[in-house]
Amino acid sequence: MILTNSTGLAGVVAGETAISTVGKQGVGLTYRGYTIEDLAEHSTFEEVAWLLMHGELPTPSQRDQFLAKRIAQQRISDEMMSFLEQLPDTSHPMDVLRSGTSLLGCWEPEHSIDQQQRIAARLLAVFPSMICYWYRFVNDRFRIEIESEQTTVAGHFLQLLHSGAPSEVDRRALDVALILYAEHEFNASTFAARVTASTGSDLYSAICTGIGTLRGPLHGGANEASMKMISNFTDPEQAEQGVLRRLARHEKIMGFGHRVYKSTDPRSEIMKRWALTLCKQTRQLKTYAVAERIETVMQREKGLFPNLDFYSAVAFHCLGIPTALFTPLFVMARTAGWSAHVFEQRSNNRLIRPTANYIGPSQRPLVRPHQRT
Ligand SMILES: CC(C)(COP(=O)(O)OP(=O)(O)OC[C@H]1O[C@@H](n2cnc3c(N)ncnc32)[C@H](O)[C@@H]1OP(=O)(O)O)[C@@H](O)C(=O)NCCC(=O)NCCS
Repeated sequence: MILTNSTGLAGVVAGETAISTVGKQGVGLTYRGYTIEDLAEHSTFEEVAWLLMHGELPTPSQRDQFLAKRIAQQRISDEMMSFLEQLPDTSHPMDVLRSGTSLLGCWEPEHSIDQQQRIAARLLAVFPSMICYWYRFVNDRFRIEIESEQTTVAGHFLQLLHSGAPSEVDRRALDVALILYAEHEFNASTFAARVTASTGSDLYSAICTGIGTLRGPLHGGANEASMKMISNFTDPEQAEQGVLRRLARHEKIMGFGHRVYKSTDPRSEIMKRWALTLCKQTRQLKTYAVAERIETVMQREKGLFPNLDFYSAVAFHCLGIPTALFTPLFVMARTAGWSAHVFEQRSNNRLIRPTANYIGPSQRPLVRPHQRT
């Protein structure tokens, strides 16, 4: 038996995967052997989702069918709309997605493993509809039409959110962010989803596990936390002083550092370029300057680099996306990766059940109720 005492399982190899490499084999991040740089430059989120879930890039006809099915599967039922309308206005959008996933599992249950591809595609298609319907109802008291002429997840999400077709630059910027967020090996939420799958549970339960795990600020919630921090500062000098004060109080700066990457996050470099493009387009160069100064200070003071969440936050902000919807966007993308991992786990399953080093009291006689003080 291999005994490890690594807190947070840091550095522990917990299984095998053929889906992605994170910082291994001399390359940064690859999905099924393709570099993230190539995918972000030449591919689309839907192609990447197919690649992750099927193992190969789609042929043109497979891609077209997948896009057409996405449109057919983006609908939400009247029951779902009514459920979303009854949720408290104060709900966290991640709780909305987690609960919506659970309900879908009741209305459209997974009866057999043969349905897993169809259900994953349905979740990818329905999440933008679900979150935008709820968000617009709560904030605008407006029941949006779920239909849109958009063929992609990015386009559909932006159209429902803003009640208008997005520009091609905006759509593509979000599309690239979804590609970058789609998969990342044994990160916390994916590993948690695999644990659920390993018990023989259904795909909806595994996705709920993923959403619940992603919600925390040390994982997916970091993009929201990054934006909240950046918004506190009106200029780079103020940002520098603010970050220095936080570091002096030993606070963590969200959007920086990574468990696996040690010198740079390859996804961040791509997202930073898109953030600059969008900041220029929306005349928000001050926000970009604030972000860049925070990056400089973190590098100088802590030797830490921005992870994907940091510049994604800036880009999403420029796209007019409310901060509360940043982590749900992560869900929309990562559902592809979670699903691929559930399929992989199921294809060669053994229950994931590690063991622990016991550090509690040694065996002792039971203290009866009347003896307890
Ligand atoms: C991602 C993260 C959880 C990785 O954590 P980890 O591998 O467990 O590393 P630790 O949290 O143990 O940090 C190691 C050291 O670096 C420091 N550090 C790590 N990330 C930091 C950050 N974002 N801001 C300030 N200090 C940080 C820690 O304080 C610690 O310092 P110490 O040894 O002096 O106590 C961590 O970097 C973090 O919390 N980042 C902010 C949240 C975030 O952006 N999450 C998204 C990840 S993609």
